[in-house]
Amino acid sequence: MIYLDNNGTTPVHPEVLKAMLPYFTEKFGNPSSIHVCGRRTLAAVKEARTSVAKLLGCQPTEILFTSGGTEGDNMALAGMVHAGDHIITSVIEHGAVLEMCRYLEHTGCEVTRVGVNGKGQVEPESVRQAIKTNTRLISIMAANNETGVLQPVEEIGKIATDADIWFHTDAVQAVGKTPIDVDRIGCDLLTITAHKFNGPQGIGALYVRRGTPLRPLLHGGHQQGGKRPGTENIAGIAGLGRACELAFEGLQDGSMKRIEEWRNKLEEAVLAQIPDCGVHARTAPRVANTSNIYFDHVGGDALVLALDEQDIAASRGAACNSGEAEPSSVLMAMGVGGERSRSSIRFSLGKMNVESDIDLLITVLPKAVETLRARTSFSSETQGVVVHK
Ligand SMILES: Cc1ncc(COP(=O)(O)O)c(C=O)c1O
Repeated sequence: MIYLDNNGTTPVHPEVLKAMLPYFTEKFGNPSSIHVCGRRTLAAVKEARTSVAKLLGCQPTEILFTSGGTEGDNMALAGMVHAGDHIITSVIEHGAVLEMCRYLEHTGCEVTRVGVNGKGQVEPESVRQAIKTNTRLISIMAANNETGVLQPVEEIGKIATDADIWFHTDAVQAVGKTPIDVDRIGCDLLTITAHKFNGPQGIGALYVRRGTPLRPLLHGGHQQGGKRPGTENIAGIAGLGRACELAFEGLQDGSMKRIEEWRNKLEEAVLAQIPDCGVHARTAPRVANTSNIYFDHVGGDALVLALDEQDIAASRGAACNSGEAEPSSVLMAMGVGGERSRSSIRFSLGKMNVESDIDLLITVLPKAVETLRARTSFSSETQGVVVHK
């Protein structure tokens, strides 16, 4: 299997698995217990917190462990606003932000969703113009999951600071792919999830700047200062910590540069060999691993399935939306038409890929597109409808 859906999830790195395994066996214990078993797991939590903090450029005490990106995003929003408050977010956010905003509207909050330009970027000026006297929180993602487009979070952070408004960024798709520094971004809250950078699923972290008045979503024990109660997922936390260490090393060792070269090689080959296709947001600043490509007159889902038959895993967009016939709201927000949006698929590379994966994809893709296009035109000629068999 050639796995090119790393924005959906990534395989666990062997080093991460190694770091996790002892906490399922001999190193069990509740970190709240004062005996040696508890002290051992508490030490693992502390160690992981330090590794996460190093990757994000913050203090270990500013890290809360969560169950992943959805919880981090939900907590950053619901824990910061009250009825009557105004939130500014964007139309291209992940559902974990957008659906929480929708919920908060039902509880009496007001939400402004700013659009994006043709390159898929939020314009900082549109955020500035959306500010009202009751604006309490701005939530804009660091990198988009479908296009890989990096958002101008540093400029937005400055706008938030100047206006004295809390700023949250969903950095789920940025972490490990581009350096993150919470002070440079100027954010008060930042979400990450381990499974997007070779850690395990079901564990993540929320950075909470010291002094940020975040209310807990869960209520129970005293764990994590009562901010996120519940017995800690020790094996997951150990895995997240190790994944952060590897991500930190990966940002220095040239592996992202290599991935970017392969991504660019893929795009150049596709554009040269396949007619009527193009790369979304090609000239925008993007994370190195992501390429969202449209193939006109081909259904995106049909192409994903045709590649799957050849043991190549790609995706039509966000993992949680794929399989839906709806066009991507992210691409539509960029001005891409419905048909072209449905004809788009996302390739997202990862640390476990090798160059020959891309070489194979380049040989398979033109034929797959040609076959589907031939079937499409046959269907439309005979039945007047576009169907992929
Ligand atoms: C940008 C973004 N935010 C949040 C999430 C949700 O993360 P999790 O799956 O860990 O809940 C995802 C997952 O796809 C994502 O891409």
